[in-house]
Amino acid sequence: MHNKKIFIWLILICWVLTRNFSIAQDNRNEMNVMPENGSMFIGVDYYPEHWPEERWKTDLQMMKEAGFNVVRLSEFAWVLFEPSEGNYEFAWLDDFLKLLPQYDIKVILGTPTAVMPAWVARKYPETLATMENGQQIVWGSRKNNCFSSGTYRLLSERITRAMAEHYKDHPSVIGWQTDNEFAGPVCYCNTCRNTFQDWVRERYITLDSLNSAWGTHFWGHKIQTWGEIQIPKCNGEGRWGASGNPGACLDWMRFNSWLNVRFQHDQVQIIRDVCPQSHFITHNLMSFHPEVSYFDLGKDLDFVSWDNYPVWNKPDLSYEPAMAADLMRGIKQKNFLIMEQTAGPSGWGNFFRNPRPGEIRKICYQQLAHGADGQIWFRWRTCTAGREQYWHGLLGHDGRALRRYKEASQVATEYRNLEKYLTGTTVKADVGILYDYTSIWSLTGQPGFVENIYVQALRRYYQAFYRAGINVDLINPEADFSRYKLLVASDQIVLPDQLAGKLNDYVRQGGVLLADCRTGVKNETNLAWERTLPGKLSASLGIEIQEYEAVTPDFNYKVYSNRLFEDTVTAIHYIDWAIPVSAESMAAFDQWHLKNFSPVTRNKYGNGTGWYVGMIAAEETFYDSLIENLLKDAGIETYINLPVGIEASLREGNGKRLLFLINHTEEEQTVILPEIKKELISDKKTGKSIVLGVFGVAVFEL
Ligand code: GLA
Ligand code: ZN
Repeated sequence: MHNKKIFIWLILICWVLTRNFSIAQDNRNEMNVMPENGSMFIGVDYYPEHWPEERWKTDLQMMKEAGFNVVRLSEFAWVLFEPSEGNYEFAWLDDFLKLLPQYDIKVILGTPTAVMPAWVARKYPETLATMENGQQIVWGSRKNNCFSSGTYRLLSERITRAMAEHYKDHPSVIGWQTDNEFAGPVCYCNTCRNTFQDWVRERYITLDSLNSAWGTHFWGHKIQTWGEIQIPKCNGEGRWGASGNPGACLDWMRFNSWLNVRFQHDQVQIIRDVCPQSHFITHNLMSFHPEVSYFDLGKDLDFVSWDNYPVWNKPDLSYEPAMAADLMRGIKQKNFLIMEQTAGPSGWGNFFRNPRPGEIRKICYQQLAHGADGQIWFRWRTCTAGREQYWHGLLGHDGRALRRYKEASQVATEYRNLEKYLTGTTVKADVGILYDYTSIWSLTGQPGFVENIYVQALRRYYQAFYRAGINVDLINPEADFSRYKLLVASDQIVLPDQLAGKLNDYVRQGGVLLADCRTGVKNETNLAWERTLPGKLSASLGIEIQEYEAVTPDFNYKVYSNRLFEDTVTAIHYIDWAIPVSAESMAAFDQWHLKNFSPVTRNKYGNGTGWYVGMIAAEETFYDSLIENLLKDAGIETYINLPVGIEASLREGNGKRLLFLINHTEEEQTVILPEIKKELISDKKTGKSIVLGVFGVAVFEL
C-alpha cells in the first residue's frame, strides 16, 4: 500500500517536472483595475481569522461607513483551508463571506501558498528550501518553500484548484491575488541544481554552445557533461565571495526568476480554467525588488498591484514611491492597484514613525497621480499576535475608529467624487527610462565600481525629471520606443546587438537618447564584448571610450562647462575617458591628463540626438541642467514651475487632462498655475495660484 502511494506520487512529480512550460496567452481580454460599471476598489487587507466572529460585523460596518468596497483576504490561510492533506474546510471563510453583501463589500482572494502549513513541511521535508550554506530552512516563517519541488508545486496547484472550485460562483469574489510578494527564497537544494541543469540544457542545447556562452575556458571551467553544472557563487564579499562564472551567475538569476514565474503560471492556469472570465488575477509586487522579472511575471496577470510602504524615517521629497509607481505602471503599460499601503507605523522588531496628519492621504494621492486605480491599506487593524504585532493598521490594537481610520475614510469619499474624472485616464509620458533586469543581474556581484547600483543610476535622472514636473515611464527594453520623444538607457551594461540596433534606429528616426557609464560592456551571456566602448551605440553617440576608471574620494575630479551649468561640479565614483568622434563636447575635466576626454557629449545622428554622460556628479544641479537640455532637444515643454517639495503629475485620456499637485513638505506652499481652474477635490475655482497646506493635494482638469 505504502509503495503504491510513493509510486503514484513519483509519477505525479515526474509529470509536473516534465510538463512543457510556456507562458501561454489565452484569447481572453485582459481586465483593468477600474471596473467598467462599478466603483473604484478602495479598502483594506483584512484577516477575519485574526478576530473573533463577534467582531466581524463591527469591522464591516466601520468599513462601510468609511466608504470601503473591497477586502483582500486569505493569502496566509492555507492551513485553515486544508488542515490535513486533501481535507478542505471552507466553512470558516464562508461564514465571513456571507456577511459581505449586506455591507456592499467585495473580495480579492489570495492563493495561500506564501506560507506552507506545518504538516507540509513535516510530511514532505523536501519542500523546504535550502540556504546557500547548505542548511535547510526551518519551518516557521513564510516563503519557506523550494520552487523546484514538484511536491510543493502539486500541493500549491491542489489548494489553488480547491479554492477556485469552491469560490468560483461566490457573488462577492471578484478576483485573485497569486501567492504573496513573489521573490525567493533562492534555494540551493539538489532539486534546484538539477532543475537548473535542465533549464541550462534547454537554453543552450549543446555543451559547446554552453561553454562558449559562459566562457568556461577561464580557470579551466569547461563543462563536459550537463551534470557537472553547479549552482554558481554569485554573492558575497572577499576572495571566495562572488567567485562563480559571470555567465553562470546571470543564468542562475534568470532561472530563479523563471521558477517564480512558472510557479505563478501554474496557479493562473487553474484559476482561468475554473473561474469565470470576470475574475481578475493580479499579484502584489515590490517595486524595485530585483529577484523576479516583473515583466515576465506580469504577462500572466490582468493588471499588477503593488505594496507601497514609504514611511520610514524623516519625511522626504518622496521621489521613491513616484518612481516605483512609474515602474509598476510600466510593467504592463497600464494602471495598477495598490494592494498594500502604509496605514501606520511599520516594522517587525521595531517600528518607525507614525504617518503625520495628512500624510496617509498624500501618499494615496501620489499613487493616484501616477496611475493607481484602486487603494487598499495594509492592514485594517493592528494584530495582537505574531511577527507583525507592530505593523500598524488603520486601527490600533484597540480597534477604535481613530485618526488614521478617519483619514482613510476621507480619501475614500474624495476618490468617489473624483471617479468620474479619473475613468479612462492614465499617465502618458514622453520620456521613457529603460528598466533592464538583465543589466541588474549582471551587475550583481560584479558592479565594476563599488557604487554602481543600477536603480541608483536611474534615480539620478528620474529625480531631475520629477523636479522639472515631467512624467516618466519606466519601461521594458522590449517595449515600443516610438511613443517616446526622449529615452534614458542608464547603466545599460548588457547591450545585446538587437537592443543597440533598436536604440540607434530610435535616434536615427528623431529620438533623443541619453546613455551613460558602462553602457555596452557585455553581451547577453555576460561576456565582455570584443569592442571599443560603447560598442554598437558608438553610431548614435558619436564617441569612443578606450579607457575608464573608478574614482575614489581621495581624487575626485572637477568638471566645468560653459554650455550646461555654471560653476563646476564634482565627478565621483567613476569616469569614462570618452573621446568625441562626431559628437560635440558639452563639458570638460579640469585635470591635465584628461584634457582630451569629454565627460558629457552630444551627437547629431540622423534626425535625432545621442547624449552620453561619462561621469557621475555629486551635485543635483548637474542633472537638472542636463535634463533641461535634453528636454529642449526632444521638444518637450515644461508647463509648471514647482517649488521644492511639490510634485506634479498628469493623467490623461478620454478627452481629459488632470493635473495633480502634491505638497510633500510640512510647510504651506504656493504654486503658480498655468491658468485659473476649478480644483476638483474642493470643487472651487482657484486664482492664478494655489496654496497647498502641509501635505496638501490638489487636482485640476486642464
Ligand atoms: C508585505 C506583505 C504583508 C506584510 C507586510 C508588512 O508587504 O505582503 O503580508 O507582511 O509586508 O510586513
Ligand atoms: Zn530547491
